Order: sequence, then structure tokens, then C-alpha cells
Amino acid sequence: MFNYGGKYALVSGASSGIGAEFAKALAARGANLILVARRGDRLDALAAEIQTAHNVATMVITADLANKDAGRNMLADLDRRGIHVDVLINNAGWGYIGKFVEESADGMASEIALNVTSLVDFTRAFLPAMLERKSGVIVNVASTAAYQPLPGMAVYAATKAFVLSFTEAIWGETVGTGVKVLALSPGGTSTEFFEIAGGNSGLGQMQTAQQVVKTAMVALDLKNSPPSVISGRVNHLTSLFSRLLSRKAVVKITKQAMVAR
Ligand SMILES: NC(=O)c1ccc[n+]([C@@H]2O[C@H](COP(=O)([O-])OP(=O)(O)OC[C@H]3O[C@@H](n4cnc5c(N)ncnc54)[C@H](OP(=O)(O)O)[C@@H]3O)[C@@H](O)[C@H]2O)c1
Repeated sequence: MFNYGGKYALVSGASSGIGAEFAKALAARGANLILVARRGDRLDALAAEIQTAHNVATMVITADLANKDAGRNMLADLDRRGIHVDVLINNAGWGYIGKFVEESADGMASEIALNVTSLVDFTRAFLPAMLERKSGVIVNVASTAAYQPLPGMAVYAATKAFVLSFTEAIWGETVGTGVKVLALSPGGTSTEFFEIAGGNSGLGQMQTAQQVVKTAMVALDLKNSPPSVISGRVNHLTSLFSRLLSRKAVVKITKQAMVAR
């Protein structure tokens, strides 16, 4: 089992939701934290809460990860401070709800820059040193949206399909090296996500961020951890079900579901 004690864990998007819960779960296992997002006041408050509860070191870095080269700039900054990252949680992400032609070109570009480009850049920046040390953990947060196209969230679902495919491939390249790589796919989860996305989830019962993080931590604790995990039994079944149907049927069903929200 990976020993998190005294290791540095970088959590992107730690200022709310799933990222904040990852930070708490990792601190509970003794990891020191590097908390990253744009809202520094939120990160400062979380850092103080975690220090009080778990007595680990915390560092706050405010950054817009949609900016070019965010990952390699972060690596250079942490190298200068003599800190190496053993656990990387690529969690920051957002999605626009609405028709593709109604999303602004800038919004779309920032969605792809954050969900895809920065996640790849961070993985590329921090994975080589983990491989050298033969030890490390990378969790890339995908979504159940990765398992089928979503008319009404076209760009978001496509970015998450990328995250799932990319992460499973990197799992294949690194399995047996001592570095664990995992794609985590939450379904609807009660966070600020849908407020920011500009719509309600329409997904009925949602999981909590704690449940989602627990799914990942349990998968990572397995000796042979899988390339990907879907959080929640119902989410798991519906995601796999879509693989049994024709593509046309899947798109029709997801379109109906999005319109009915
Ligand atoms: N909630 C769901 O139903 C659900 C389902 C499936 C997958 N997910 C995925 O889970 C991950 C976490 O989302 P969440 O549900 O916890 O939503 P959330 O509460 O809205 O959290 C999103 C986090 O990402 C950060 N972030 C957004 N844009 C950023 C940027 N440009 N630079 C740096 N940080 C940025 C936000 O911090 P700042 O605003 O402070 O920068 C925040 O900490 C995302 O990848 C999301 O796609 C969520």
C-alpha cells in the first residue's frame, strides 16, 4: 500500500468540492499538501483547517491553470523550493452546460486548456521524477461524461473522454513501476460544479465529494490498482451500459436526458 506519510501531495482545484475533500483525505493519511486554485482565500482557510486537524505542512499556490505551461512552471517553482511532489491530484476542471454554438469561443478554449492541456502538462511535468524514484500516485479526475457523448455538454464530455483515454494509456505505460496512475470518474456530485456550469444537474440523487474521494482512495490502496474507477454503483452500471448500445441509440438517449433536465 502506498505510504502517504510525510510525502507532498499537490491537489489542483482544492478550493472547493472534490479537490478540498482530496486534500482532507490525504492529510488524514499524513501527507503534506500543496493546494492550488485561483481563490487564494478559500485555499488559506482550508490550509488552516487541515493544519489544525492533522498537523501536516501546507502550502498555498494561487494560479490559473488554464494559462499555458501551468504544470511546468509549477514544477520549476517547487524545484526552486526543494519540494518534490509524490502525489498529484489533477482535479481542477469545469464544464459549460448549453448548446455548443452558444458557448463563447473563449469559454470553450479555457475549458479545453484546463480540463485537457493543463492536466497533460502537469502529468508530463511530475511523472518523470516519480518514475525515477519508483514511487508516486497520479489521479486524473475524469467523469461519467467520459463514457458517452453529451449533447448540451459537448465540449465538456469530450474533454473528459480525453482524460479517461489518456490516463488509462499512461497506466499502461507505467504499470509495475511503483507509480500508480488512476482515472477517477465521478457521476453527479454535490459541489459548486453545476452552479458554475450554468445549469442544474437533473441527475437526481448525487454523491457527496467524500464518497467520490473514498472511491479513489480505496482503488489506490489495492495492490494492483486499476487504470480507472467509476464512483457509485448506479453510475458504474449506467456508464458500462452505454457501451452495449449503438452509438446512435446512446446519443439519442443522452440528448433526451439533457433536454429533460
Ligand atoms: N460535481 C460533479 O457532478 C462532477 C462530476 C464528474 C466530474 N467532476 C469533475 O470533478 C472535478 C472537480 O469538480 P467539483 O465537482 O469539485 O467542482 P467545483 O466545486 O466547482 O471545483 C472545481 C475546482 O476547480 C478549480 N478551478 C476551476 N477553474 C480553474 C482554473 N482556471 N485554474 C485553477 N483552478 C481552477 C476551482 O477553483 P477556483 O475557482 O478557486 O480556481 C475549484 O477548486 C472537475 O474536474 C470536474 O469536471 C465533477
